[in-house]
This record gives sequence, structure tokens and C-alpha cells, in this order.
Amino acid sequence: MLDRLIKILLVEDDEDDIFLFRELISGEELNPSPIISIRQSGGTVLEFLDKEDCDICFFDYRLGATDGIDLITKVREKHSHIPIILLTGMGDQKVAVEAMKAGANDYLSKEKLTGESLIHSMRYCLEIAEEAKKRKQAEEELRQSHLQLISAHQKSQESLKKLQNAQNQILISEKLAGVGRLAAGICHEILNPLNIISGHSQALMMERGKDSALMQDLKSIMEEIHRIQKIISSLLKFSRKDGVELKPVNLKAELESVLLVVEKDLQLGGIVLDSCIGADLPEALIDAGRMRQVFLNLINNAKHSMPAGGTLTLTTEVLTKERRLYKRSGKVPLNPNIIRIKFSDTGIGIKAVDMKNIFEPFFTTKPEDQGTGLGLAICHSIVSKHGGTLDVESVWGEGSTFCIDLPIITTMEENTILNDSEDSSDF
Ligand SMILES: Nc1ncnc2c1ncn2[C@@H]1O[C@H](COP(=O)(O)OP(=O)(O)OP(=O)(O)O)[C@@H](O)[C@H]1O
Ligand SMILES: [Mg+2]
Repeated sequence: MLDRLIKILLVEDDEDDIFLFRELISGEELNPSPIISIRQSGGTVLEFLDKEDCDICFFDYRLGATDGIDLITKVREKHSHIPIILLTGMGDQKVAVEAMKAGANDYLSKEKLTGESLIHSMRYCLEIAEEAKKRKQAEEELRQSHLQLISAHQKSQESLKKLQNAQNQILISEKLAGVGRLAAGICHEILNPLNIISGHSQALMMERGKDSALMQDLKSIMEEIHRIQKIISSLLKFSRKDGVELKPVNLKAELESVLLVVEKDLQLGGIVLDSCIGADLPEALIDAGRMRQVFLNLINNAKHSMPAGGTLTLTTEVLTKERRLYKRSGKVPLNPNIIRIKFSDTGIGIKAVDMKNIFEPFFTTKPEDQGTGLGLAICHSIVSKHGGTLDVESVWGEGSTFCIDLPIITTMEENTILNDSEDSSDF
């Protein structure tokens, strides 16, 4: 501890005591010899400590106007780590206790002062100071690693959420692909007998037009046949194997034309339409007809969720996101490459238990004659075929937001890569 250069500050007003202190220290033949700075009053001590390096202080108790304890208190306010030893007169036990309370690390009686006791006390105090410094350092390191741990935890939570989202998307795509294949087979099996039933019913209607009771039944049969045909045509659209037919489309104009169609209907339902379609929406290659179907389905769902009226907000955004397509080709996207279209309603929202089911075909919470449960499954399938994603956030009782992220595809070459990489959602 004393084998390095030690800088000592001695605050002492008595010339003889200063001389004695120097003699005792030099008598111990420390190597290297300590540097001893002297202050004969307490007035300039703080200034000295602010400017100079100091390893340890010795304060005399009796310093004229101030005493050593006052000085310890003042120094401790600014310098908590410097070891301080108070030099007291003979039998000043009370003073010694006061000094320790004020923050001294040790005290020595001047009457019994020897080189050995000085060195012993210095070593003890420097060791304590060194340990305190190390403890502080360790605490700081611990604090830093704790902060790092918290931030790593947050990052891993974010990654986990992204992973779960991606997994959900894959699960939905796979499920839809399976259902799509199944649906295509079943539809053809149903259509043939349905056509036969429809033919016979129509023939009967012509032959027995006067039998009103029978006509009533036949009318109901025909209505049910039309309903089944409607479901089947939706199912067939949903299970179509072909990809999307991409053409350059002005999305802003496309969205505005959809809003024009639904505006009146929403107004009648007490729904305020708040649309904010960015003028910066770039032209993109999309299948306009099928994308229009997506917008209409989402608007219809929003309308149904607000039977007593509310607000439907449509917003668009253009952002830059790292895309799998670019990752695979090793290119880093610099330009905006995602168009985000959001439909937010202030409707009834979706219950947490239903959230995982809403994209499943035939999942509906509507009465049998009002919903087939195919709308969102079709939307998901169409958006996937464009290489995009369809996500939902909802709070039961407050409303829902459906968010479409569409990649901005500007060349047919990109479209080919996209179709290659999106095989899981193509059915
Ligand atoms: N904006 C919304 N607010 C609240 N619930 C919604 C919303 N959109 C969808 N849902 C819920 O998701 C279910 C499935 O929606 P989806 O569009 O697939 O079928 P549907 O609307 O019930 O019937 P269809 O669209 O075939 O007429 C709905 O029944 C409803 O419970
Ligand atoms: Mg719907």
C-alpha cells in the first residue's frame, strides 16, 4: 500500500509539530518518499483538494479560528473518499469520538506519536479507502451490467414478439393453404348435385306455378341454393391456384374510388369516415381487383363492428423495412419499400380469445345469415399473394385496427423473386 508515491496534506499551525511530523515520516524511510504539503490553517484546504492530487490528510484538532472537526465536516461534503486522520492532544477521547462521527477514518494522539503509529494508521486508512474505491467500482460495474441485462432482456422480448408474429403468419398461411386445397375439392363435389337440384326446382316452378304452397317451398329452396352458390364462389376464389395479376396501379386513386362506393352506406350507418391518404403513395404493381376486395371486406367488417355508429379512419404510410426478398439477394433496401394501409374503427373490438381465430375460414361471430366467416381468410390470402402481411390489433370494447403492409414492387423481375419466395401462401 505504501510502496507507491503517497501525497500527504498536513494541516497544522504549529511549526514544531510540522517539523516533528516530517521527521517521523522520513525516519520510516518509505520508498519512494511521500510528498508532504502543508497548510497552516483550514481556510485554503478545500481549494487545495480541488486542485491537487492528495492520497491522505492529517488535520490538527486545534487550528486557531476553526477546529479539525469543522474542517473534516467541510471536506467530507465534497470529498467523501479521501482518508482523513485527526491529530489530537493528550486525553482528548471526546474529540476523537466527534472526529469519527464527522467522518475521520482514524485519530492519533500527538503526545504518543511515533513513526510506526503514523505509518500504521496511514496504511490502515489507505487500505480502507482503496477497498471503498474498489467497492464503488464494482457497484458501478454491477449497475452497468444490470442496465445491459435489462436492455438485452428488452431486445430479446422484442425479438420473441417478432418471432411469434412470424410464426403466427406461417401458421395462418399453412392452415389456409390446407383449407384452400380441401375447399377446391369439396366445391366441385357440391356444385354438381346443387346444379341438378336447382334445375329440378326451376322445372317444378314452371310446371306447378299455380300451387302456391309448393311455390313457397320452392322459392325457399332456390334462396338456399343461391346462398350455397355464393359461399361456393367465395370458396373457389379463396382456393384459386393462380397468383395475382399485377399491373401498375395508382393506389391513392384506387383507395379513393373504394371510399366513394362505401361513403353513402357508412354515412347512413352513422359512421364518420376519416381518411388520410398520403399524396406520396407511389405507383405499385398490384392486382387492383383483388386488392379492392380486401379493402371492401375490411371496411364491411368495420361497419358491422359499429352498429351504433362511430369513426372509421383510413391512413397510409410509406416506409423502409428490411425485406426477405432483399435479404436473399444480398441487396440492402435504401428506398422506401413498404406501403402501409391502416383501417381503424371505434367498434366493439375483438375478444382476446377470438384473436387467434379471426383469419380462419368460416370463423364468424355474426348470425348465420349475416356472415360466412370467409372475409378475412380471403383478405389474408390476397395480401400474402402480394408478398405482404395483414395484421390486427384490437381492444375489446374500444375498436380494432387492421394493418396491411404491401411491398412496393416496381418491376416484374422483383415480382418473379417474390412469387418464388412466397410459395407457402400460394394455393
Ligand atoms: N373490424 C372488426 N371489428 C370487430 N370484429 C371483427 C372485425 N373484423 C373482423 N372481426 C371479427 O372477425 C370475424 C371474422 O371476420 P370475417 O370477415 O372473416 O368474417 P365475417 O365478417 O364474420 O363474415 P363475412 O366476411 O364472410 O361476411 C368476424 O365475425 C368478427 O367477429
Ligand atoms: Mg367479413
